Amino acid sequence: MPLTTDLLIQAFYLGAAVLFILALKWISAPTTAQRGVHAGEIGMLLAICGTLLHHGIIDYKWIAIGLVLGSIIGVPLGRVQMTAVPQRTALSHAFGALCVTLVGTAEYFLPSSDISQTLMAVLAIEVILGSLTFTGSLMAAGKLQEVLPQRPIVYRGQNLVNFLMMAAAVGIAASLILNPAQPVLFLLMIAIALIFGVALIIPIGGADMPTVISLLNSYAGLSAAAMGFVLDSKLLIIAGALDGSSGFILSVIMSKAMNRSFTNVLFGAFGQVQAGAAAQEEERTVRSATPEEAAAILGSANKVVIVPGYGMAVAQAQHKVRELYDALSKRGVNVHFAIHPVAGRMPGHMNVLLAEADIPYDKLLDMEDVNGDFPQTDVALIIGANDVTNPAARTDTTSPIYGMPILDVDKSRTVMVIKRSMSPGFAGIDNPLYYDNKTLMLFGDAKSFTGSIVREFSGGGHH
Ligand code: TAP
Repeated sequence: MPLTTDLLIQAFYLGAAVLFILALKWISAPTTAQRGVHAGEIGMLLAICGTLLHHGIIDYKWIAIGLVLGSIIGVPLGRVQMTAVPQRTALSHAFGALCVTLVGTAEYFLPSSDISQTLMAVLAIEVILGSLTFTGSLMAAGKLQEVLPQRPIVYRGQNLVNFLMMAAAVGIAASLILNPAQPVLFLLMIAIALIFGVALIIPIGGADMPTVISLLNSYAGLSAAAMGFVLDSKLLIIAGALDGSSGFILSVIMSKAMNRSFTNVLFGAFGQVQAGAAAQEEERTVRSATPEEAAAILGSANKVVIVPGYGMAVAQAQHKVRELYDALSKRGVNVHFAIHPVAGRMPGHMNVLLAEADIPYDKLLDMEDVNGDFPQTDVALIIGANDVTNPAARTDTTSPIYGMPILDVDKSRTVMVIKRSMSPGFAGIDNPLYYDNKTLMLFGDAKSFTGSIVREFSGGGHH
């Protein structure tokens, strides 16, 4: 290969690696997040350009077909609703992991490959992680899209069966490392890993899927890094390692925010225990208010903290929330937003929506920064959030969310909650906050109820 082409490829790869690292740094803060996304996109473009120059390519026909097919699938996937992003992400991991598995399998069966023991070890890691991530991610996407049951599916001895399956795959891998020329065992190892991916996810409830997806992201990254060793591609090793470690860090952050350990997420079958709780519910009183009453209370407050949640996302209420923020600020009310790390359905969900509505970043406070403010807060206005405000997490040791850090909205003087009904949130449990005598329920859709409050301020309400 001409030296210049080789240099060019290396330059493209180096540029891509640098941009991937910068992208990760930049997307971690709202002010630089867009720049981070663009850096990642340009990095990927450079990586593709570098790869297309590769001397191993003798014909571009199949690459062109792949590019067209990938774009036909990819473009609509990029346009899904924001609330469907977690399952879309899971699908991307599934495709990536399938690709890694196919490449690894091709490498194994290629007549020209000379498989050393080291290469076999890396190939085994690549295809085991790739296969289980492929089926696991498909299961996770199915659960989130509700085409599969969200409830954990459990049976006696499940953990033992899963353990034995994994042990069998690792055992076969060991035998292959000793003697790589056992194609039937290679395929059997893949088959077991594919089944293991399904078995790993079925006992996990829908509420834990975002954490699991993040973990699968990390597996997909590790399998890609292994593929990088097999194909001798430094860029793949770097990108895979970045993906693997950032996915892992994110899942640790999410587990912490829910006060769950990894073992609890993976083996705890969260979300199956609440059936009895609702049955013994006694009659409790709930106070509700109209938009007019809510506007009067908000208008006379000094300090208001707005707590957005999944319901704001579903209702796409962020623009109305912005109008409410403007109306209150104009009247001299001090308004902040309290962001719980797992509000909504994906990390940063609330930040993205509020940024879309141009709410100033400095008005967004993280849970640990805002919790001390609630005792001095006149009104905590909760818009479509539920679990992240549930005081049972603090007080009720029998609650499945006991120990999860929450926003201490119940410490403020008045609590107002916009939601459509008394239905529970994602964890499927009752929220005692709604029966507190300082709480007013504002029953309605988040967008239309917030809009009605705003109309009261602009003098257009019905009297
Ligand atoms: P949730 O607890 O899911 O509650 C959302 C509430 O919004 C529901 O109770 C629902 O009540 C209401 N709602 C739905 N549509 C609405 C609409 N159109 N207008 C008004 N209200 C509407 O939300 P949250 O407080 O944001 O908590 C997030 C949950 O997801 C937590 O359990 C968390 O652990 C879990 N989770 C999140 C993540 C990430 S990374 N964000 C990861 C893993 C798990 P009605 O039906 O009565 O309206």
